[in-house]
Amino acid sequence: AAELRGRSLLRELDFTPGEFEHLIDLAADLKAARRGGTETQALAGRNIALIFEKASTRTRCAFEVAAHDQGAHVTYLDPGGTQIGHKESMKDTARVLGRMYDGIQYRGAGQRRIEELAEHAGVPVWNGLTDEWHPTQMLADMLTMREHGGRPLREVTYAYLGDARNNMGHSYVAAGALLGMNVRIVAPRALWPDEETVVGPSRAVAAGTGASITVTEDVADGVRGADFVITDVWVSMGEPAEVWDERIAMLAPYQVNAEVMRATGNPASRFMHCLPAFHDRRTAVGEEIYRRTGLDALEVTDEVFESEASIVFDEAENRMHTIKAVMVATLG
Ligand code: CP
Ligand code: NVA
Repeated sequence: AAELRGRSLLRELDFTPGEFEHLIDLAADLKAARRGGTETQALAGRNIALIFEKASTRTRCAFEVAAHDQGAHVTYLDPGGTQIGHKESMKDTARVLGRMYDGIQYRGAGQRRIEELAEHAGVPVWNGLTDEWHPTQMLADMLTMREHGGRPLREVTYAYLGDARNNMGHSYVAAGALLGMNVRIVAPRALWPDEETVVGPSRAVAAGTGASITVTEDVADGVRGADFVITDVWVSMGEPAEVWDERIAMLAPYQVNAEVMRATGNPASRFMHCLPAFHDRRTAVGEEIYRRTGLDALEVTDEVFESEASIVFDEAENRMHTIKAVMVATLG
């Protein structure tokens, strides 16, 4: 798909099903080449800026390693270490970076900001997570489902439990629609994905791809037969700590635990999580929440996270291969 050259990746729905699938195919090829020692560099001499207005482990490392593998150089701009938004507008930043860099990764809050960056940079801009979407995560997740699902993606069913009004919930609706998959969003009504910007447009795409999109409050119905059971943190980056109590009250019934995995009725069902996960309390934030609430587990139990069914580290590795594919396809 030569037509991807010069394109930005701001959200899944900007791509056709064929384009989106092409990125996954390319990622699989690049992964195989790296493993086989036959990778060639399509980005030699290129310069890439990585703007992070929110923290990251996977996304940053994926971009840095992928760029290095392909011969490109990166500049990491940390949250707080730049003029962006404090002293200089996004529009001016975009025009400055566009003069120096061949591509720009952006992670931050509102989708509006990355749109403004893409509008004025004149080079491809890639969304490494906004409040609304997490498209590079979707490419990794779909590659992972393809590797573990044992059949074409359009025959795969996944159930996403938890906060579906966040970037992950939104992106799972859109990505599944593009790939013709069976999408189940399992969440309390107050945390269903946005109808106007997410579910409506995704249903329009699904009409063409044969995807099915179910949004339900019922866990048993939602997970029945699912090939993949997925969740995400109950409180996302940028949200105030005060929402934890309300989220726990709303989302406790949607915790992924052994009972939920059994309720799929599918012994081959796998567990996924974009990470970071709150299954392990030995983190500053985790310790505080567990101590304050007295809970045993949040979005996923340690038992499921550490089980044979869990493929979260394959998923994390695939961030790198898929982000590489995005850079190669749009800049190569
Ligand atoms: N899944 C993900 O985006 O992880 P990071 O926040 O570590 O980049
Ligand atoms: N919903 C999470 C995803 C982290 C990768 C967040 O935005 O914090």
